[in-house]
Amino acid sequence: MVKRFAGRVVLVTGAGSGIGRAYCDRFVEEGARVVAVDIDERKVQTVGAALGDSCVAVQADVTSAQDNERAVAAAVDSFGRLDVFVGNAGVFDGFLGLAHTDNEQLEKLFDPVFAVNVKGYLLGARSALPKLLDSGGCMVFTASSAGSHTNQGGLIYTMAKHSVIGLIRELAYELAPKIRVNGVSPGGTFTDMRNAVSLGQDFGDDRSVFDAPGMGDFIAASTPLQRINDTADHAAVAAFLASSEAAGITGVVVPSDGGYAIRGATGAAGGGDL
Ligand SMILES: NC(=O)c1ccc[n+]([C@@H]2O[C@H](COP(=O)([O-])OP(=O)(O)OC[C@H]3O[C@@H](n4cnc5c(N)ncnc54)[C@H](O)[C@@H]3O)[C@@H](O)[C@H]2O)c1
Repeated sequence: MVKRFAGRVVLVTGAGSGIGRAYCDRFVEEGARVVAVDIDERKVQTVGAALGDSCVAVQADVTSAQDNERAVAAAVDSFGRLDVFVGNAGVFDGFLGLAHTDNEQLEKLFDPVFAVNVKGYLLGARSALPKLLDSGGCMVFTASSAGSHTNQGGLIYTMAKHSVIGLIRELAYELAPKIRVNGVSPGGTFTDMRNAVSLGQDFGDDRSVFDAPGMGDFIAASTPLQRINDTADHAAVAAFLASSEAAGITGVVVPSDGGYAIRGATGAAGGGDL
């Protein structure tokens, strides 16, 4: 594999499993050293052990400014620099809609979902900024098909992911020409993704979102390419956006979703009779 990140240092939040873990693997395969950040100590230490000298594992909560500062400091202390900040940590909202929640549930769910999925990205970007200015680095964020389509999450997750698209676009404007800011927008992908409760965030249950019966069939059937992208597919997109091959690209969010945007008027996946 081409070593596009030789000598570079990449910080990935939500690195303990799923898409964030795949990002770490991909960046290391391409020569980077990574700082793997996750709230789950056990998961992040597993990543650190697997990636050896190429990785420093940091247990940190992305909703805390202090923890984000500590994670960036770990990059500098361990590897002397920071070139790429990847905001990725996220939690789900249990597919809940307005009519299926009362005020108490809405208040309980809004804060943790926005705190991790939106404020976490904002605080991470703020902490990484000085070091990215030093290195001429860039930022990549994991958005979601829920950032531009309906019915990919519940109401609050969808609102949060729309905010992530706003964050990417506004930061790209604000930080140009020095720092590029882009996003990857995965469609449904089998990961360890949890509703907000399981990390002590007090809502829902402790199963992965993808433990729901029939989830795989549902995703594949509603995807034009009739394929469920895996975490490595998204990592390939993130690595491209973070690489110098994307030197002319900022403010974009690349769908990595098997073609949701070209579904037909009834939501049908299309094709299939060729
Ligand atoms: N899986 C999908 O279908 C899908 C689709 C679109 C977008 N996404 C997005 O991808 C990103 C990664 O999710 P995933 O699917 O890989 O799920 P995942 O649960 O496997 O990974 C998310 C990681 O974030 C960590 N995390 C949660 N709260 C945290 C906090 N406060 N501080 C630090 N770490 C925290 C979790 O411990 C976990 O390791 C999320 O932003 C998610 O919204 C996922």
